[in-house]
Amino acid sequence: MWRGGVFFGLVCLIFRAHGQLSVSLGTSYDTDDGTHIMSLTMCFAQLSGMNDNYTLREVKPVRLEPVSKRRYTSVAASPCPNSGRLFRTADGFCNNILRPSWGQSLERFKRYVKADYSDGKGAPRIYSRSKLCRKEPWLRPRRCLLPSARTVSINVHPPKKVTAEHSVMLMQWAQFVNNDLTATAIQQPEEGVSPCCKNTKKIHRRNQGCFPIPIDPADRFFKTECLNFVRSRAISTRITRTNPREQQNLLSSYLDASNVYGSDQDTQDRLRGDNGRMRTSARNLLPKGRDGDCIRKNAPFCFDAGDDRVHVFPGLTALHTAFVRYHNYIVDDLKQHNTGWDGDRLFQETRKIISAILQRITYTEFLPEVLSDATMNKYKLKEGNNNYQYNISVNPSIAGGFATAAFRFGHTYIPILMVIDDKEVPSRELFNNPQFIFTSLKSVVENTLSDPAQLRDRSLSEEITDHLFETAMGSFDLVAFNIQRGRDHGLPSYNTFRKFCNLPEATEFNSEQFDQTAQKALEKTYRSVDDIDLFPGVMAEQNEKGSILGPLFNCILGQQFSDLKLGDSFWYETTDSRRGFTRDQLKAIKQVSLSQILCQVFDLNRIQKNPFRHKDKKVRCKKLTGLDLRPWYEH
Ligand code: HEM
Repeated sequence: MWRGGVFFGLVCLIFRAHGQLSVSLGTSYDTDDGTHIMSLTMCFAQLSGMNDNYTLREVKPVRLEPVSKRRYTSVAASPCPNSGRLFRTADGFCNNILRPSWGQSLERFKRYVKADYSDGKGAPRIYSRSKLCRKEPWLRPRRCLLPSARTVSINVHPPKKVTAEHSVMLMQWAQFVNNDLTATAIQQPEEGVSPCCKNTKKIHRRNQGCFPIPIDPADRFFKTECLNFVRSRAISTRITRTNPREQQNLLSSYLDASNVYGSDQDTQDRLRGDNGRMRTSARNLLPKGRDGDCIRKNAPFCFDAGDDRVHVFPGLTALHTAFVRYHNYIVDDLKQHNTGWDGDRLFQETRKIISAILQRITYTEFLPEVLSDATMNKYKLKEGNNNYQYNISVNPSIAGGFATAAFRFGHTYIPILMVIDDKEVPSRELFNNPQFIFTSLKSVVENTLSDPAQLRDRSLSEEITDHLFETAMGSFDLVAFNIQRGRDHGLPSYNTFRKFCNLPEATEFNSEQFDQTAQKALEKTYRSVDDIDLFPGVMAEQNEKGSILGPLFNCILGQQFSDLKLGDSFWYETTDSRRGFTRDQLKAIKQVSLSQILCQVFDLNRIQKNPFRHKDKKVRCKKLTGLDLRPWYEH
């Protein structure tokens, strides 16, 4: 087979006309010169030829300028309603009534640390801080380039086959949550469809849509000159030093189950069925989507879901299926007892319950598996006792450092293979392939629970470093993408983030936060410790006590999950009676667990009480408490 990076043009985008975008509550925004946008992941699946005949969905025009600066000084002046029974908008608009666009889909990513672009405005970070390349003093100083992202991937993140105590379900939940929070938009190309890898050096230095990753001729796998890489979309074209290039989140940032319902009203409407239910297809699977969205070879059709990355891995598709089934189960029960509720009320009340359950599983089951107890306490991430305090001045948007590096820690967990129907299937055959959902859904769920994930360390499997989205046309390296994406977004170096988190900066490669082998790998790769990119830096840190992650991971994740909690006026524990639950409803929600939901929707007999640990003792499903819906019945 030809082994090379996928080598062709910018076909992730198509154009549309300039115009005005009207959103809820009568506000309208100027729209841009008309780009269609899509998520990074789907763009690369398409570039690899994995998603055959991918066509873009008709989406709303893109806002030209983010409106996050629009701020109202009083509730009376705000365009957002704040009385009566309230439900989340589809796109997150008006969650914060004084800053209505905070956390809304299509808004900009925020930054915890100022951008670091090589020209101060928007050109990728490509130069080393090292002075070693300054030759003789009488010659013009020459700046050294950072090592290629592929070189960093090979040196710092070599493959290693060590499995974790955690199950593949932990990886799957992380990805499911991620796809509720963040999807970076791909940028509009400046020039038609020219290939990204045509002239590596020249393109490397220019601030345009292409930023290919150079490949060493002695590369262990790729035999081409470079890997195709398209820059993320710049949210504004008027880039200056005071207004540098910023990236755009296609999703509502809130943990609001937008992966189930979509991040805009059109998607929500498309996914909704009759009488408050969600649409499904035969055998209670997700509804039929568009032909080009997945590998269709052995699957009758692709699925439709609130997030377009639904097919990336079978366990992820299974979780999407689980929550659509669970939505319909709740609607059917509430409909029987609340005969006066119309379809809208049934839908919104259920959507509210599903969002609450997603939040609760994430904060009480998932995060404690990942973060240390100290971090959980420091950032107030633990469940409270009727003492949740919404903070209207906390911005719940997703930070670049979180989306572009820290929350990508989940890539380390991707297994080398999965057992499905007692056969071992390499992961490369599972990406974007829904065939097993049709033939073996129960086996996918059971093995996602019982197969071990890869160990959380700096090594990542070749399934994603050499074989990501592999087709006859080639494949990609996900780790190199993570690093290159950080440079594309002007993400400052590892040390700059250490400073932000009040952690001592690394002054030498042999700093104590790295173990000896990591020190050697970093030293072999970078000229200066100040050059270390954020992703390899955090991945190489030794774990904090009681956590599977190092101190910098704990800080960035802790801060982001704190913002998502404190800055969400619909947080499930809110005591605001217009947005929250009654005491009894909340009590019922607190009884539910991920294991119980999986048991119920997939008709399992036994399951680990902790679904994130594959060796945890299994219990009978009947012993687990389900959701008691009586507090919602209107007698
Ligand atoms: C089979 C599993 C997975 C595959 C094939 C996959 C693939 C990808 C790809 C291709 C990208 C875009 C890379 C770029 O161009 O920058 C991406 C982004 C990302 N991935 Fe994964 N991923 C997987 C699992 C996970 C998991 C378990 C997590 C953990 C939380 C995760 C977190 C992220 C994040 C935060 C981003 C950035 C999202 C954005 O803002 O667009 N991924 N992934």
